[in-house]
Amino acid sequence: MTKKNPIEGFSKLSKAAKIEWIIYNYFDNAEKSLNTLKSYWHSNADIQKLHDEFIENSLSNFYLPYGIAPNFLINNKLYCLPLAIEESSVVAASSKAANFWLNKGGFKSTVISTTKIGHIHFLWEGNSFDDLNKFFKSIKSKLLQSTERITQNMRLRGGGIKEFSIIDKTELEKNYYQIEVTFETCDSMGANFINTVLEEISKCFKNELFASNLTENNVNVIMCILSNYTPQCIVRSEVNCTIDELHVDKEINPAEFASKFKTAVRIAEVEPYRAVTHNKGIMNGVDAIAIATGNDFRAIEASVHAYASRNGKYSSLTHVDISDGNFKFWIEIPLSLGTVGGITSLHPMVKFSHELLGNPKASELMGIVAAAGLAQNFSALRSLVTSGIQKGHMKMHLLNILNQLEASEEEKLKIIEYFKDKVPTYYSTIEIFCKIRGIENLATLRINKK
Ligand code: MEV
Repeated sequence: MTKKNPIEGFSKLSKAAKIEWIIYNYFDNAEKSLNTLKSYWHSNADIQKLHDEFIENSLSNFYLPYGIAPNFLINNKLYCLPLAIEESSVVAASSKAANFWLNKGGFKSTVISTTKIGHIHFLWEGNSFDDLNKFFKSIKSKLLQSTERITQNMRLRGGGIKEFSIIDKTELEKNYYQIEVTFETCDSMGANFINTVLEEISKCFKNELFASNLTENNVNVIMCILSNYTPQCIVRSEVNCTIDELHVDKEINPAEFASKFKTAVRIAEVEPYRAVTHNKGIMNGVDAIAIATGNDFRAIEASVHAYASRNGKYSSLTHVDISDGNFKFWIEIPLSLGTVGGITSLHPMVKFSHELLGNPKASELMGIVAAAGLAQNFSALRSLVTSGIQKGHMKMHLLNILNQLEASEEEKLKIIEYFKDKVPTYYSTIEIFCKIRGIENLATLRINKK
């Protein structure tokens, strides 16, 4: 491949010109690559246009499978959860946990708090925080007034600015201060709202400062931005049953299962290497619904992992209590979600997901997503402390391996039947595939294909 040259003004090219440039500069087989891009275009031109307008430089779409996990009983309401995810075993694990808890009272979710935070980060070269603080207090109502037009609609919905204060951060960085604003953003995730309000407050703050006797001390507003860390936007979800009801596998009695399960959670509470994998499994469920409902899973991930480290050491998001013959398993997780705004009313599949869930309010969605995370963790730990994770995982992954091998439908059926009572591995799948196809090994297959 030839040396690549940078391009100027790429975003201003037409879609066709962008594709032409990329295909001819980056791909050996132009026709094949072009066809790949085109094969993912939506057949409905309006939907394709909508997608293209979500982002800059859109060339095509990137599909994820969209699956459903039925039978989720959450706060006595039955849901089918929409999950957009590529990992083979996640939907199956969700469904399995939902079915397990269905006749044991289901999931009980409670929203603990819904506050979000944003900051104006600035440097000030004065030396008396007291003076700055007094000044801030004297202009607080003006700052609030400056946002009235922007917060009007949100206030009508019961949200808006809850509090704001000035904070001395000079211990962290010379001359560093913050105006911290807390918000209630109702059913929207609120990022745009928060950032707009902060920028308005910042403008007013600077104007007031310049008009004041503090002006000789240079003020430098560095940035105005919400924080994606939302430790005051928390939801808890719980399942519980008697120990006797914990029949999960013939091979293990309920009391032994409960005890191993509790130890597995304990290990994730105290041991960061395990905690990361443990929480990753939780995020399998959380992210899949976040994507399906048009929520920002990167923001959620960032917040969740910061929260998991809030006590100075990365730890489990879930916990277990076993007492008086009862088993209680719960999650506490920060989830800043929206059911309005963003792409929620634009993306047809996102709208489908919201309707599937009964068009929940953001607080209800928080409870649903937390339950999905807890369910994933229950299924993962259930497998880990009994049969091992590979049994279920490889059963679901088998089709991926067979598709990689380009197995025919008939070969697939034979191989699935062969593994009915065995745990497939990558190598055993290749072995049986070669045997059924009557070839010595994969190398022979490749040579024959050439
Ligand atoms: C795989 O995506 C998730 C698990 O590793 C989670 C866990 O180990 O708890 C199975």
